[in-house]
Amino acid sequence: MILTVEPADTGLKGEITPPGDKSISHRALIFSSLASGQSEISGLLESEDTLATMKACEQLGAVVDRDRGNIFVTGTGGSFSPPPDGLLDMGNSGTAMRLLAGVLSGQGFDSTLSGDDSLNSRPMKRIVVPLTMMGADINPTQAGTAPLSIRACSGLKAIEYVSPVASAQIKSCVLLAGLFASGTTSVREPRLSRDHTERMLPIFGVKLPSSCSVEGGSKLKACRFAVPADISSAVFALAAAAMTPGSDVSLRQVGLNPTRTGFLRCLEAMGADISISNQSAQSTEPVGDIRLVFNDRLKAIDVPEALIPDMIDELPMLMALAATTPGVTRIRGAAELRVKESDRIAVMASGLKKMGVELQEYPDGIDIKGGKVSGSHVESAGDHRCAMSFAVLGLVASGRVKIEDAEFIATSYPGFVQDMTLLGANMQMESRS
Ligand code: S3P
Repeated sequence: MILTVEPADTGLKGEITPPGDKSISHRALIFSSLASGQSEISGLLESEDTLATMKACEQLGAVVDRDRGNIFVTGTGGSFSPPPDGLLDMGNSGTAMRLLAGVLSGQGFDSTLSGDDSLNSRPMKRIVVPLTMMGADINPTQAGTAPLSIRACSGLKAIEYVSPVASAQIKSCVLLAGLFASGTTSVREPRLSRDHTERMLPIFGVKLPSSCSVEGGSKLKACRFAVPADISSAVFALAAAAMTPGSDVSLRQVGLNPTRTGFLRCLEAMGADISISNQSAQSTEPVGDIRLVFNDRLKAIDVPEALIPDMIDELPMLMALAATTPGVTRIRGAAELRVKESDRIAVMASGLKKMGVELQEYPDGIDIKGGKVSGSHVESAGDHRCAMSFAVLGLVASGRVKIEDAEFIATSYPGFVQDMTLLGANMQMESRS
């Protein structure tokens, strides 16, 4: 599919509630599937990524029902049952694959985790190494990628893992395997990555001995869980409002976990008029309404490296915003972007150059000189976040922007075009003729 975006002739205006948080939705599905009893989940994201997790959980023995917009998951009571033909398809989702690999490494049956071409080219040694240290029999391809073949487990042992990367997927994978190990498993990381697993396990009845450790044999119990709106999806409307003159948008009840709000801190540092109200807590997560009113005072910044883990998924949007912000925006310490759903530095650099943007690519980041952007036909390389970032930038381009492979937007934000249209954008998804 091709997404066509027309330049905006007025500012974006209105209020939307972005879809449920993707990271939290994956965890809510996996945790409730492991729990005993029936959990009730409200606000769950139903996108291609989380539906892949839901299907896998069903194949592993959980029962999923729906009633009045909520999802009810009857868990397996502690351990999964073998999937029908041993194979689980994780689609495009790195989170689904890495978290489930942790759980499956502790089960008494063989399984194989596979995905689409993008997922099957992403690095998996980062989880294979700690899981093997725990005694799991897990084998990637020679290239260190999925399919991952996992053999029946005859007992895992706890480890104290020092992760070389600040990655919530690695951390959560090891902690979930730790539930099936003897002893206490802990993880340390170079900087705190998103901490949803640590916040959510206690709601499912698992006491953590310290902030990032689990006791082997801990059992999960069903609960009622509310998923907040996804800050990673909210940033598209916020950035659109920050760059489109006359805009005033509000986003309702968005997750404001400090490990996820790096983009908001960057917007503030760039000079955006952003305000937060109606703050409260939803299940384990802080939430609030975010309002952004356009001003013409945005300026480029050097993005502090310490903020990178707190905005890793928002960096494509920041790159697109930087392309229209006076001055040179510098991003460093973001080498992880090269192993996401695509090489996000390369994909954004290539599209931005086509739109006439001056930039310099580095192994771990990019310098982008803000100015005018032109209409163009760009590749999203099947990466949902790059596709949406180009779409937002199209609102302030001098001509029409067309984005290839835009169907991948459904990976995380199936209602993106609808929400942006509601705010006044002119975008259309069309099949390639
Ligand atoms: C996620 C963690 C991040 C993020 C991904 C979701 C999670 O990946 O990029 O979209 O839900 O744990 P890494 O853990 O690889 O940084």
